[in-house]
Amino acid sequence: MKTFYIETFGCQMNAHDSEKVVGTLLSRGYQQVEEPDDAELVLYNTCSIRDKAEQKVFARLQEFKKHSKTKTFGVLGCVAQQEGEKIFDRAPHVSLVAGSASYSKLPEMLVQLETGDKRVTGLSLDTEDTFETPMTRRDNPYKAYITIIEGCDKNCSYCVVPYTRGPERSRTFASVLEEAAKLSAAGYTEIQLLGQNVNSFRAPDSDPSRPLGSDFAELLRRVGQVPGIRRVRFMTSHPRDFVRDIVDAIDENPVLCNHVHLPVQSGSTAVLKAMQRQYTRDEYLRRIDWMKSTRRELTLTSDIIVGFPGETEQDLQDTLSLLSEVEYDAIFAFKYSKRPNTPALALEDHITEEEKSRRLLMVQEHQRAIQIRRNARHVGRTEEVMVEGFNKATNHWLGKTTQLKTITFAAPGELAGEYRRVMVTRAGPAALAGELVQ
Ligand code: SAH
Ligand code: SF4
Ligand code: F3S
Repeated sequence: MKTFYIETFGCQMNAHDSEKVVGTLLSRGYQQVEEPDDAELVLYNTCSIRDKAEQKVFARLQEFKKHSKTKTFGVLGCVAQQEGEKIFDRAPHVSLVAGSASYSKLPEMLVQLETGDKRVTGLSLDTEDTFETPMTRRDNPYKAYITIIEGCDKNCSYCVVPYTRGPERSRTFASVLEEAAKLSAAGYTEIQLLGQNVNSFRAPDSDPSRPLGSDFAELLRRVGQVPGIRRVRFMTSHPRDFVRDIVDAIDENPVLCNHVHLPVQSGSTAVLKAMQRQYTRDEYLRRIDWMKSTRRELTLTSDIIVGFPGETEQDLQDTLSLLSEVEYDAIFAFKYSKRPNTPALALEDHITEEEKSRRLLMVQEHQRAIQIRRNARHVGRTEEVMVEGFNKATNHWLGKTTQLKTITFAAPGELAGEYRRVMVTRAGPAALAGELVQ
């Protein structure tokens, strides 16, 4: 029996890709182990979104260098696609480098290594069969990821993703619906549709005259009707293709969760332009208005980049005022990080690390006050949670509401994967605490 260990960095798309890789290897007779020391094959599924993420991969590879005689090392994912064969120079004990579009070829690549090839690469981005992954071995028995669109065509000036994941390729309606139905039959009740920009989903068989975003609204409506599926989430949405019909679809059907992650990146139209985000502050805020006028209350979350080249003090203030205006329930804020091949490298007025840190802190502190206020509104409400896990240290269950709020509560018995009603008794900036309602 051949053994393998896999470690995953990065976003949910990477997490789901690793589920596909694990399933593929298991189906070929490999056995998964929990410690890299016990494995003959060690795989790192890597992320390149910020420089720190990339450095972490090489540091991790370095740690296992001493085992290079006894093990095969493979680098998968976004750093693999970005660096290609250069990885062999930086980490000579690596013998396999493969990007996300090549995973279905992994078994063949491993055979090549077993039969004497010293190094193999899979870096083509034009594979058509990336979506059909019958082997996927999911980590969670209750909620499942489904990739609906791969790649990105947006070309934001700071971002590596268009280079690491290639152009946008969408799946067919039939293929997504079939996977959702199979997951329901297998006992899953929550589905999360995945893509760098899910709402840019455009089925290959759809009418090309339909406006962008309509296919995604239709997909939401149809996935929301799959019997047995109680919750549908989706991540990430891009503001440009976020049409009103998507908001209407969510409002019509409570199976579609009351939460939208719509990254704004900056509150300044000038910075958005330099970022090539393809929307203005006002256009973004119009989308927020639609979501604030729904019958069901939606929660909103976002990503923010501070310290983009040329960002002025006024631009930063514009971001803070946007946070106040939208009142997000959570944000992920990052310091701008220079990435290879990206147009933003050529911009002037790069900002020092120290200054970026100051701006990051300002954004985080501003948002913290908003979250304390937002979460306080939940106290006294009874919410339905899907129970996701148990914290042994605190003896509390942890569940998620449709709005993606975390609620902790004490209760006897085995509740993982169950839906329960919980009355919120306390609120903090990041989570809520409550009591089980019998
Ligand atoms: N496709 C999604 C998110 C992609 S990556 C979108 O466009 O919204 C997740 C987040 O990483 C981005 O939203 C952005 O905030 C951040 N990010 C991407 N490139 C970055 C860079 N070079 N430096 C800092 N943060 C970055
Ligand atoms: Fe990157 Fe922009 Fe594409 Fe998001 S939309 S993945 S930030 S290029
Ligand atoms: Fe990272 Fe690649 Fe995802 S760069 S964030 S793993 S798409």
